Parts: sequence; C-alpha cells; structure tokens
Amino acid sequence: MANNLLQGKKGIIFGALDEKSIAWKVAERCAEEGAQLVLTNAPVALRFGQINELSAKLNAEVVPADATSMEDLENLFRRSMEIFDGPCDFVLHSIGMSLNVRKGKEYTDLNHEWMLKSFDISSISFHRMMQVMMKLDAIREGGSVLALSYIAAQRVFPDYNEMAESKALLESFARSFGYHFGTKKKVRVNTISQSPTKTTAGTGVKGFMEFFDYADKMSPLGNASSEACADYCVVMFSDLTRMVTMQNLYHDGGFSTMGMNPAVLGL
Ligand SMILES: NC(=O)c1ccc[n+]([C@@H]2O[C@H](COP(=O)([O-])OP(=O)(O)OC[C@H]3O[C@@H](n4cnc5c(N)ncnc54)[C@H](O)[C@@H]3O)[C@@H](O)[C@H]2O)c1
Repeated sequence: MANNLLQGKKGIIFGALDEKSIAWKVAERCAEEGAQLVLTNAPVALRFGQINELSAKLNAEVVPADATSMEDLENLFRRSMEIFDGPCDFVLHSIGMSLNVRKGKEYTDLNHEWMLKSFDISSISFHRMMQVMMKLDAIREGGSVLALSYIAAQRVFPDYNEMAESKALLESFARSFGYHFGTKKKVRVNTISQSPTKTTAGTGVKGFMEFFDYADKMSPLGNASSEACADYCVVMFSDLTRMVTMQNLYHDGGFSTMGMNPAVLGL
C-alpha cells in the first residue's frame, strides 16, 4: 500500500544488519514510498550481515561507518551529500549493543568499561551524528531524525540491564538536540519506543521469548511488528508530521498504558 509519502525525499538508514532488523524493514518501506536511500552500518556488520543484499534490492549505496567514530560519521554525511547531490531529508538511528547483555552480566555486577561502550554505541552515537549533520548542513530544513527506543527507559525491566540507561540517555538527547535543531534549522527529532521485536539485538536479552509473549498478552493490540514500526517511521519522515518534535512516541500496541490485563492472568 504505497502512497508516495516520501516521493522525492532522501534518507540515511543506520542499523540494517539482516532481514530481521527493524532498520531493514524501514528501508524497504521508505523505498516503497519513493525515497532514495543511503544505508550504513559498522564495518564489522558489513562483513557478517546481509546489508549488501538490501543495497542491491533497493539500489542504495552502502557507506560503512562506526557510529562511535566522528571521522567515519563525517565521511558518511559528506559522501551522502555527494550521492544525493545535497542534504538529506531524514535519518534513522537504529543502533544498539551491550557487551554486558551479550555476556550475561548481572545488573549488580556490571563491567563499567563495557557499560561506557554501550552508552557510546547505543546513545552518544545519536548525539555524534546530529552534531556532524548540523555542522555539515547535511540535513534540509524541515527534515526528520528518528531513533528507536524501549520502555525500559521509564520502567524497570531487570534483564534489559544497562540498556535501560542507554535508552534514557538516547531519549534525553532527542529532547535536548531537538531544541537546538528545531530552533536553528526546523529539523524535528523524535524517538519511537517499540514493542519487543525478534531481531538479533532483541533476542540477545535474557528471557526475551517469555517476555515477548507476556508483552503480547498485556497489549490490547498485541506486540507491534517491525513492519508496523516501519509504517510509523514512514509517517514520521513524511511532511504529515512536520510539527512533531522532541517526543518519545510509544509504538507498542498499548503496552505502555496498561496496568494489568486479565489475559496475562489467564482470567
Ligand atoms: N528488538 C527489540 O526488541 C527492540 C525493541 C525496542 C527498540 N529496539 C531498538 O531498535 C534498534 C535496532 O535494533 P534491532 O532490534 O533491529 O536489532 P539489530 O541487531 O538488527 O540492529 C542493531 C544494529 O546496531 C548496529 N551497530 C552495533 N554497533 C554499531 C556501531 N558501533 N556502529 C554502527 N552500527 C552499530 C548493528 O550492526 C545492527 O545493525 C536498537 O536501537 C534497539 O535497541 C529494539
């Protein structure tokens, strides 16, 4: 159901690793809606992931960038401006990684070097990319910047570990940078707080499958799929949401507003 909502728009998508990635679905939907895209991921993900398949399918160039490197980010935005022959209209930050989660460290026994790495990759990268974009004038007036978040920024989900703090920081950057980007360039910055989704990053969290089922039962509409998330991203990149900024937008089938659902208790 393409509606040409992004006809003529140009966007940069961070974080498509394989076809389960939320960013993969977003890239496909944006292309369906008429956008021209540049895809990017960390050099290591280019070797292990399938991004080149997506690149061929969407006719979108891949520009590698480690999101923690200012040099890589500068190169990415400069190269994108060459490809697009000018600034872009939208950017998706779909990046998350925690070594503490990967290695099953308990929250009360975290490796703090790894914690800092998690913050750098999952959150500070969002500030880095916006800082580079602003400096290089790499996004057009009225442009839209989005990052993907999770409700553990507001509520306690013990096994989500220090990714909870990563998401709180990410959402705070959206508000603070959103002020500066809005004032200077009328660029809007938002986060989408997505349901649990079966991806490489998602399923790496301890107890994910049980929690996925719990959230699905708790939400009146069920868990939001990555395809539905892609639809929401398209709307947020389109001109239809040009006055929405500095928001954390729940995309979770109603989970965030529920207290208890009898379905969870089997009633
Ligand atoms: N899956 C879920 O349950 C869920 C729920 C809410 C929010 N999110 C968020 O959605 C986003 C995308 O995750 P996903 O679930 O699609 O998983 P994913 O594993 O497919 O995507 C994570 C991406 O981050 C990239 N990445 C890691 N380190 C990087 C670096 N240094 N530089 C550049 N890229 C790097 C990976 O290569 C990968 O493409 C993340 O921010 C995640 O926290 C996921």
